[in-house]
Amino acid sequence: MFSSVQPDERILVTGGLTGIGAGIVDAFPGRCVVWSRRNGVDLTDEESVATAARGLLAAGSPPFAVVHCVGDFDEVPLLDADLPHYRHMLDSNLTSAFLVVRHVVPALVAAGRGRVILFSAAGASVADAKPRAPLYFAAKAGLSVLARTLALEVAASGVTVNVVAPGIIRHPHSHRVSQDRMAPRVPMGRAGEVRDLLGAIRLLLSEEGAYITGAELVVDGGIGLR
Ligand SMILES: NC(=O)c1ccc[n+]([C@@H]2O[C@H](COP(=O)([O-])OP(=O)(O)OC[C@H]3O[C@@H](n4cnc5c(N)ncnc54)[C@H](OP(=O)(O)O)[C@@H]3O)[C@@H](O)[C@H]2O)c1
Repeated sequence: MFSSVQPDERILVTGGLTGIGAGIVDAFPGRCVVWSRRNGVDLTDEESVATAARGLLAAGSPPFAVVHCVGDFDEVPLLDADLPHYRHMLDSNLTSAFLVVRHVVPALVAAGRGRVILFSAAGASVADAKPRAPLYFAAKAGLSVLARTLALEVAASGVTVNVVAPGIIRHPHSHRVSQDRMAPRVPMGRAGEVRDLLGAIRLLLSEEGAYITGAELVVDGGIGLR
């Protein structure tokens, strides 16, 4: 049986007030529930996520899809990083995804349908050195393992789980200095914009995307090919 997002079904977008998440919210007008620190949900705090999940699930049937965008970036060499920084990068990029999985995905499984999209970063799942942002990429690599494992665990329920891995995506709050340095290396000759990701998101939410699970869609203008 195929399923795709219907006009009256909700999409939970974490980190959806700015950046990539906000672009996804704009692409699905009237359908998105946003969890962000600025509207009172800290995705790194279990009680905060659990409380928000109880409210969301009490307000009707579970969302059709969860698009988890939270994930801070920072360029700090490994030997310059202290424990608080390590914890922040792991919490923001990996623990936050775990908490969404733990508190929201069981409702999708119980409903027997749904889509989970987690945001990694281009190149994160390639097991080589990441001197530019080692903790960020370590957390994103862990996220890929989590996503693929969850995809397997819930496959029989009708819920799909996939990763979108952007390259350089510019928006008003993106890391401009780092992006300006990296942009000349993009084979397609330009940095990406939020709208460049929307095809991947629409595919994964569509009926035609219902058989895609455990995949990583790299959307990076080819920078990962270098
Ligand atoms: N932009 C890129 O070039 C790029 C490239 C590769 C991968 N990615 C990945 O794509 C995803 C989205 O990127 P982005 O550039 O849109 O990120 P972003 O600009 O940092 O936006 C993330 C959003 O998440 C919210 N947020 C952060 N920590 C939170 C927390 N603990 N609890 C609740 N909300 C939190 C922030 O809102 P508040 O102000 O409310 O905290 C912000 O609106 C991330 O996972 C990122 O790692 C981005």
